[in-house]
Amino acid sequence: MTVKQSRRDFLGMAFSGVAAVGGVISLGAMKRTWDPLPSVEAAGFTIADLSPLQNGELMTTQWRGKPIFILKKSASIKKNESRDVVVDDASYTVIIALCTHLGCIPTWAPSSQQFKCACHGGEFDASGINTFGPPPSPMVIPPFKIDGMRLVLGEEGPEYKKLVAKG
Ligand code: FES
Repeated sequence: MTVKQSRRDFLGMAFSGVAAVGGVISLGAMKRTWDPLPSVEAAGFTIADLSPLQNGELMTTQWRGKPIFILKKSASIKKNESRDVVVDDASYTVIIALCTHLGCIPTWAPSSQQFKCACHGGEFDASGINTFGPPPSPMVIPPFKIDGMRLVLGEEGPEYKKLVAKG
């Protein structure tokens, strides 16, 4: 074997080794892409602090990429026992803010105490129940758990299960 040949063999083996390691790393990366990461599961929860909300105030947040409305009902807003989330004696509307017709995001109209959908004129009351136009059903209540003054969206707590059973 010449010096030139053994150098070529060495380079060939070194290249194969690098390629093999690269392949294993790529496979690992591909597997990570296919598997849901634990952090994504953890990110499946949204924690909303209700304590700064004033009566009649609407808060918007997001849960799993979906817009969420949290409305703290004032004394003038009609309560709904089968949909209200009650925390510390206050009633809240907690809904996925997507119109049940074709998925537009409605807006809160405080003067008429309604959620209105600009896309096709759909209307919902302050509890998220469809009252007019094409929406076929109320806006959906996301799974939640009450933790003191915090709402953990994405976890099915006993209060959520009770509401679902009533609805
Ligand atoms: S999407 Fe809301 S009324 Fe059509």
